[in-house]
Amino acid sequence: MNTPADITITITDMLAKYQKQINGRLEIFFDEKIEEALRISSYTQEVVLNIKEYTLRGGKRLRPIFCIYGYKCLADTDIEAIIDASISLELMQSYFLIHDDIMDEDNLRRGELAFHIICKDLCERQFGKNKSPKFGVNMAIVAGDLLEAYAKEVLIKSEFKPENVNKALAAYTGITKKVGFGQILDITNERRASFNEDEILTVHRLKTASYTTEGPLHIGALLSGAKEADLQILSNYASPLGLAFQIQDDILGLFGVEGKTGKPTGSDIREGKKSLLILHALKRCADDEKELILKALGNERLTADEIDVIRAIVRETGSLEYSENLVAGLIDEAVNAIKDSHFRTDAKEFLADIAYFIGSREY
Ligand code: IPE
Ligand code: IPE
Ligand code: MG
Ligand code: MG
Repeated sequence: MNTPADITITITDMLAKYQKQINGRLEIFFDEKIEEALRISSYTQEVVLNIKEYTLRGGKRLRPIFCIYGYKCLADTDIEAIIDASISLELMQSYFLIHDDIMDEDNLRRGELAFHIICKDLCERQFGKNKSPKFGVNMAIVAGDLLEAYAKEVLIKSEFKPENVNKALAAYTGITKKVGFGQILDITNERRASFNEDEILTVHRLKTASYTTEGPLHIGALLSGAKEADLQILSNYASPLGLAFQIQDDILGLFGVEGKTGKPTGSDIREGKKSLLILHALKRCADDEKELILKALGNERLTADEIDVIRAIVRETGSLEYSENLVAGLIDEAVNAIKDSHFRTDAKEFLADIAYFIGSREY
């Protein structure tokens, strides 16, 4: 029986092992793409060079790891091939993050500049400051499009049976549609006056669970020839875990340490994001506090002290505790959903450990 401390060590080591293998593959993949882009022009090459740096500069690699473990739930014969295929999910992640930071107007990602800011700076060095933010955003949109093509290319060229690859590609398009819908609702909710917990959780399911847990697990499983019943069990695990992942992300977005998350703390408030933390604080706080929160949401010039006040309200109303308890309950639900399944034992153990890791993560 693993104690929580043992779990932390084991899962961290396991994650590091896979991160290294995934990064090695990404390195080789991008070097080929850089050469391909250079055959067009030095400008196209420069963008792909930056995409490589951006993708390799950090990140937990949870999506490729879930893809590998979706496969490992059912098979363990073609491990090298599934690791090769798994980078598709990290290319998808770079694509979503680049576009997300444009939409959220966030300048920091994985502790360094967001992609549209890198390209803005590139413009300023090469061509001057005239309309450089627009240049940066334009390049970042195209970089996302390229990454989407790269992600599909990896799956198409993977070594699995064509019928399994086709099913994985169908799952891939399903994921991108869900994320698209999730992002539409997330952006729309910023402008809606009233919203409820169900609506927030629907957005979490679409914009996060779909591509962080469920989709990657399904793609890996489909490449091993999974049946519908296998996918259903994976969904029963992945759906609560994906929700927990995003609720934890929102907690870190307000209470996390920028040096650990690599993302700007408090930016969700500045952008007007209606998280569960905010919803429950609004329900329970005094009228003057309610007014203060509603004024703060979407105020780009909010100071660190003003964000501290919001943090205090979220704590004092028990809203932080509510979200934390929800995360813990969802993690248990996820782990219980696969415990007695027919999946391979080492895969079930790993999926339980990674679920606890996600529930207690600080980055
Ligand atoms: C960030 O995902 C985007 C969300 C869905 C919240 P991660 O927290 O997995 O980001 P990286 O890949 O580790 O940087
Ligand atoms: C995460 O959105 C979902 C996608 C990137 C598709 P968020 O905007 O909530 O995530 P962070 O906090 O910027 O990583
Ligand atoms: Mg964002
Ligand atoms: Mg966003």
